Amino acid sequence: MREKVVLTDVGPRDGLQNQGKILNLGERIELVLAIADAGISQIEIGSFVSPRAVPAMADTGELVHELIKLESFRTPMVALIPNFKGYNLARNAGLTHVAMVLYASDAMARKNVGMSMIEAEAVTTLILSEAQNDGIQVTCTIAVAFECPFDGKTEPKITEAIVDKFMDLGADNIVLADTIGAANPKQVKFLTKNLAGKLDINRIGCHFHDTRALGLSNVYAALESGIRRFDSSIAGLGGCPFAPGASGNVATEDVAMLCEQLGFSTGLDFAKLLFASEKAAGLTESGAEGRATAWLKQNYEKVGT
Ligand code: COA
Ligand code: ZN
Repeated sequence: MREKVVLTDVGPRDGLQNQGKILNLGERIELVLAIADAGISQIEIGSFVSPRAVPAMADTGELVHELIKLESFRTPMVALIPNFKGYNLARNAGLTHVAMVLYASDAMARKNVGMSMIEAEAVTTLILSEAQNDGIQVTCTIAVAFECPFDGKTEPKITEAIVDKFMDLGADNIVLADTIGAANPKQVKFLTKNLAGKLDINRIGCHFHDTRALGLSNVYAALESGIRRFDSSIAGLGGCPFAPGASGNVATEDVAMLCEQLGFSTGLDFAKLLFASEKAAGLTESGAEGRATAWLKQNYEKVGT
């Protein structure tokens, strides 16, 4: 049996939060369903953040409500939260998995949520203990785990200390996020090898942006260390409005291509993934696409209408 790689498509969150065009609820649902239909392991459907800070993520509660009602939709969902209010909103909407953001630099924490790193850690600790009572899964995503747009390179020991602390506190998973796409494969290998040597690597994931065209090389470096969980975004949409210079995430179709070519199983159907990618580009009017798109177009029939 082929070894499984778990991909979480973060396009409906990381992708849409940074687009010029704001999608309505119906369009957001259409995008989520197209990605789900391709067989993705998990979808980050949106975030519970201030609609003033990120207008594109308003109405995520209604989105969850509509998705839960659909009998045909059974893909595990997660939503990003920035604080305790976000946790409550996600829980009340009926979600059973949240991704809370931690920071490897103070400047990024302040810019993103107006908290210090330590304040964000304190809130996350509280959320973890609530979530254990509520039966809610918590992924802790460490922003700027490799480099911060304001403070420069992140010392690996800073990220490692956060990972250690939150593994001990019972985070279900921890994601190392290269928020601005500044990491290189050597850095990724160093950090992930260290972590693999001392903790359950199945609980660690990576989140790469392709700003400097190193996204896929970084995925490969992490795979080599034993990482089997990745965030990726349909058509490579993505970026953080609060982190200057962040461009799109690694495209789901490209990461799937890399993993499948290396003999891993992602559970994805490439024809349906191509359809979802074209839908993402069409709905956002962004013309975004993965680097594998041209090849996929030549080799897979379009599905759906
Ligand atoms: N969801 C929705 N609304 C929220 C919220 C949440 N998770 N947290 C706070 N709010 C609301 C407050 O209720 C308040 O509303 P009001 O003005 O109507 O009373 C308003 O947002 C401001 O709250 P305040 O606590 O003063 O925070 P702030 O203005 O410093 O903003 C955040 C802090 C965290 C709410 C805001 O910066 C944010 O949503 N950031 C998200 C950034 C993001 O998504 N980044 C990309 C992904 S990592
Ligand atoms: Zn991101």
